[in-house]
Amino acid sequence: MNFSGFSSDPLIPGKEIFPFDYGNTDINEFLIDNAGKYLLDLAVTYLIEQRNLTTAYYCVSNDKISAEEIGSSHAFERWRVSKFPGIRLRDYPAVKNGRLGVSNEFKRIGLGTFILDYVKELAINLGSGCRFITVDAKIESIEFYQKNRFEFLTPKDEGKETRQMYFDLLKLTER
Ligand SMILES: CC(C)(COP(=O)(O)OP(=O)(O)OC[C@H]1O[C@@H](n2cnc3c(N)ncnc32)[C@H](O)[C@@H]1OP(=O)(O)O)[C@@H](O)C(=O)NCCC(=O)NCCS
Repeated sequence: MNFSGFSSDPLIPGKEIFPFDYGNTDINEFLIDNAGKYLLDLAVTYLIEQRNLTTAYYCVSNDKISAEEIGSSHAFERWRVSKFPGIRLRDYPAVKNGRLGVSNEFKRIGLGTFILDYVKELAINLGSGCRFITVDAKIESIEFYQKNRFEFLTPKDEGKETRQMYFDLLKLTER
């Protein structure tokens, strides 16, 4: 699907939010009640609009994954040790995809995947170094993130309503 007719703009004070229903109360309420409060200070919310509908929205902010969370047996740690022997950082830079909602009538046409791909590109082109995309995935969206090659960060949140997941940007160089 070609999304060239869609525009993506940051939510700014006073901006009218066109109608939407993301089929998830938290995701709906965040856009109405909270997204505006986070403006630029903590996160940036982007609205994707088409013909006076908010077809999707997503939030991005800076994040980190701590070496402790990742654990020494993790593939990333093995990569780090081979590439930077003797250097151990406490945290690794990440971009968090805080919220993501695709309006019901636009689901399953690839829009969510298109947004994730865009966020991955954004992180790569930050110009300040970034290795991971992180998400707090609601249980019902885990399959979507797995389809987009996200992995669980830790077994500690197994069985919880929300699980921490990450995408390793190095994967984009793998074919
Ligand atoms: C999760 C969400 C963002 C997915 O957006 P989307 O645009 O419909 O996703 P895509 O069309 O890019 O889907 C890509 C693949 O992910 C998987 N997928 C997407 N939604 C899925 C679902 N509800 N259940 C299982 N797999 C799903 C499928 O494999 C799909 O490929 P397919 O349609 O060819 O089978 C959307 O359903 C949504 O807004 N849900 C409510 C809010 C939410 O849970 N957001 C995530 C918060 S962390």
